[in-house]
Amino acid sequence: MAGEKFTINLEGHGVASGFPQERVLVALERAQGFGQLKDLPLKLPVGCRRGGCGVCRVRVTKGEFHADPMSRAHVSAEEEAGGVVLACCIYPRSELSLRLETPVAVKEKSRKAAQVV
Ligand code: FES
Repeated sequence: MAGEKFTINLEGHGVASGFPQERVLVALERAQGFGQLKDLPLKLPVGCRRGGCGVCRVRVTKGEFHADPMSRAHVSAEEEAGGVVLACCIYPRSELSLRLETPVAVKEKSRKAAQVV
């Protein structure tokens, strides 16, 4: 529907407004630009914007969305079943609640560092 808009709650940080034809990551970037997302540990993680780098991983805790295919290098089938997605690959179909997730590359780096010690 033209003009339809959904609230996207980034848990603990604030809310954005998203449109059905717009990637959730774009809505979050816009909200950050307007100062609507507070207390992020870092700047909102944004990379390739096309599902290739995996830095924009989030967990959808509530709501409906449409998703483009996502690389299994960044989101496993099990993770996706648990709500983990790439914010640049999903489009809202209702109000959403999201939580930032650690990118796979960062998890792997931390795991390797722990093994060195
Ligand atoms: S920004 Fe690269 S996968 Fe989303």
